[in-house]
Amino acid sequence: MNTSWSPSSWQSRTALQMPIYPNENELQSALHRLAGLPPLVTSWEIETLRERLAEAASGNAFLLQGGDCTESIDECSTDGVVRQIKVLMQMSLVLMQASLKRVVRVARIAGQYAKPRSNDTETRNGVTLPVYRGDIINRSPFTPEDRQPNPELLLKGYERAALTLNFIRALCVGGFADLHHPENWDLDFCKDSQIARQFHQLVDSIVESLRFMETVTGKAQSETRSAEVFTSHEGLHLPYEQAQTRQVPRREGWYNLSTHLPWIGYRTAQLDGAHIEYFRGICNPVGCKIGADTKPDYLLKLLEILNPHRIPGKMLLIHRFGHQKIQDYLPPLVRVVQGAGHPVLWVADPMHGNTVSSPAGYKTRRFEDITSELLQAFDIHQQLDSHLGGVHLELTGDNVTECTGGARGLAETDLHRAYKTLVDPRLNYEQAMEIAFLIAQRLKQNRPSADTAH
Ligand code: PEP
Ligand code: CO
Repeated sequence: MNTSWSPSSWQSRTALQMPIYPNENELQSALHRLAGLPPLVTSWEIETLRERLAEAASGNAFLLQGGDCTESIDECSTDGVVRQIKVLMQMSLVLMQASLKRVVRVARIAGQYAKPRSNDTETRNGVTLPVYRGDIINRSPFTPEDRQPNPELLLKGYERAALTLNFIRALCVGGFADLHHPENWDLDFCKDSQIARQFHQLVDSIVESLRFMETVTGKAQSETRSAEVFTSHEGLHLPYEQAQTRQVPRREGWYNLSTHLPWIGYRTAQLDGAHIEYFRGICNPVGCKIGADTKPDYLLKLLEILNPHRIPGKMLLIHRFGHQKIQDYLPPLVRVVQGAGHPVLWVADPMHGNTVSSPAGYKTRRFEDITSELLQAFDIHQQLDSHLGGVHLELTGDNVTECTGGARGLAETDLHRAYKTLVDPRLNYEQAMEIAFLIAQRLKQNRPSADTAH
C-alpha cells in the first residue's frame, strides 16, 4: 500500500458505485463550492466520540446506531427529525436502565443520502434509466430528469444535513433532552400502545430515582439535562466526503467534518479500492460492514490498513450475515481479530443480511429473523470471550409498515398500508422499542451485580 495519502489520493484507485455525471465542469463547480462551506461537525466532537467508542469496545458502554436506510431531502421536516431523535432517546433510556452503562447514541442522519445499488440501471415497462442512488445524487421518481445525476444535489444535501444537525443540537441541549421530562419524548401516535406503557413505567421509576437523588444530595443532576447524539452516514460518495475533509488548527491529521462516524459499505470495501484508500487517511472513527463474503485474512489486512496504530475506539466492525449464516461465519472472524490483538468495536447489524421479498414484491425483513440474528450475535461473542458492543439498526419513529412481525404481528399483506422507505425496510416505532427491550434483557444479564459493586 502506498503510504502517501491525501484527501484526493483515492482518485487513483477504482471507485465502485459512482454515478456518471453528464457534465464534469458542473460537478467540479459544485465540489468547489462545497469545499468552501463551513464544516458540519468538529474535530473535538469526533475525538469525544472515539473515546466513547473505546469504552464500548471494552464493555463499559454500548453503542446504539440507527436511523433511516436513506434520508430524503424532501422529507427533511421538523416532525421527521424530532421523531427520529425521540425514538433513539427512548431506546437509549431502556438500554441504559438495563445495562447501567453509558449508551452512545449515533444516528444515521444529517448526511445519509448516498446508496449503493446492485445494478447501475433499472428497467420498467421496457424503459431503462439510471438506478436511484440516493437524494444527494439523483431523485427517486422514474423519469429521465429525476434519474440524471445532478451535482447541485450535493450542495442541497449538505444544506439539509446542516439544517437537520442544527435542529438536533438545539433539541439536545434544551429542555427536550431533560431526563426530568421524558414525556417530551413521547410520540403522538403511540401513547396507548403496550410498548409505550412499558416505557412509561420505566420512565416513572427513573424520574422518581432522579428526584430522590436530588433530594438526598440537595443538588440538581445537571448531567441529566442534555444528551449527546452523534451523526453517521455511509461514506460512499467520495467526492462529497473529500470536499468536507479538512485539517484543523492544533491537531494533526485530516478529519472528515461532514459527520462524526462515516462507515464503509459492504459493497465498497475492496482492499485496493478507492474507498479504503480514502478512509485510511482520516482521523474519524471508522465503521466497516462485514458479512458472509468477508474472509479472515482479508479482515486482518483491512484492520492493518485502517487502524495500523491500533487506536482504541477507532475501528468498528459492523457485521451483517443473516440469521441463517451468522453462526458459521462470525466465529472465524472474531478469532482472527482476537489472535491479532486488534482493538475493535463489534457491532451487530441484523438488518442487511435479512432482506427478503414479499409475494407482492415489497422488499421487507421479518422481525423474528432480525431478533434471531441479534441474539445469536450476543451469544457467539460471549462464547468466544469476545464482546458485542453495539447494534446498528434501520428504524424510524414513524408508524410505517415496512418490516413484518413484532408485537402487532404485522403481516405481508399489511405492508402496502404505510410503506414509505426509498430503499430498505425500517423497523417502525413499536418494533424498534420492542428490540430495545429485548437487547435490554440481554444486557441486564451482564451488568455488574449489587454484590460485587462494593
Ligand atoms: C446500509 O447500511 O444501508 C447498507 C447499504 O448496508 P450494507 O453496506 O451492509 O449492505
Ligand atoms: Co440499508
